[in-house]
Amino acid sequence: MANSLFAFRSIRKVAFTSSASASVKWKGGVSLVQGASRGIGLEFAKQLLEKNDKGCVIATCRNPNGATGLLDLKNRFPERLDVLQLDLTVESTIEASAKSIKEKYGCLNLLINASGILSIPNVLQPETTLNKVEKSSLMLAYEVNAVGPILVIKHMSPLLKVGGTGIERDVAVVANLSARVGSIGDNRLGGWHSYRASKAALNQCKILAMDFEV
Ligand SMILES: NC(=O)c1ccc[n+]([C@@H]2O[C@H](COP(=O)([O-])OP(=O)(O)OC[C@H]3O[C@@H](n4cnc5c(N)ncnc54)[C@H](OP(=O)(O)O)[C@@H]3O)[C@@H](O)[C@H]2O)c1
Repeated sequence: MANSLFAFRSIRKVAFTSSASASVKWKGGVSLVQGASRGIGLEFAKQLLEKNDKGCVIATCRNPNGATGLLDLKNRFPERLDVLQLDLTVESTIEASAKSIKEKYGCLNLLINASGILSIPNVLQPETTLNKVEKSSLMLAYEVNAVGPILVIKHMSPLLKVGGTGIERDVAVVANLSARVGSIGDNRLGGWHSYRASKAALNQCKILAMDFEV
């Protein structure tokens, strides 16, 4: 990875009781990697499949048919990889994914929100000065980098169960890929206002046990 300045800024272990689950089949657990078409998300999916042969992975992306890296993985792991369509800016696709996972697996043991945007040609550029800041860029970065991941957690939360799933780990784990520039305390350089602010917002989307109705 060319630049490893990313961090699991908002990992929270969420432990609470649950009813028996349908996922006993997967002793290595059921993992969801959201934003797995390429980059770090794709690598997470790959390593989860390669290193945990008793677990299954659900990988989501905006365009499954065009996600060549995921299609290659699906060929290698047809039984243990499911690919679902999910666009963070379309909440109905998040809801549909949650419904599909519930019906097929019954629970989730790991959720990784890996998607994120910094730069999109002709749409979103990392700002180098304040006068390059545009409302549209701020809103888009916020929608994809902060709003989308928290909606994913919201819709997946009923599935984040422990106990009765048959796996060894006794907690469900949620990990959001933030960025070091999202740290308010570490902001010495300025710039990248849309990305920086949206990742700071994501850092506040920490999940605590008390956020759940149990
Ligand atoms: N790479 C680094 O050095 C670095 C440093 C700090 C933080 N990070 C963070 O780490 C995460 C992964 O970075 P990366 O380098 O792997 O990024 P990347 O290669 O640019 O991949 C970004 C992923 O986000 C997905 N995505 C974008 N918009 C989406 C939307 N509306 N709905 C669903 N998915 C969407 C992309 O899907 P499509 O293929 O459909 O576009 C792609 O899978 C990001 O959150 C990033 O901010 C990375």
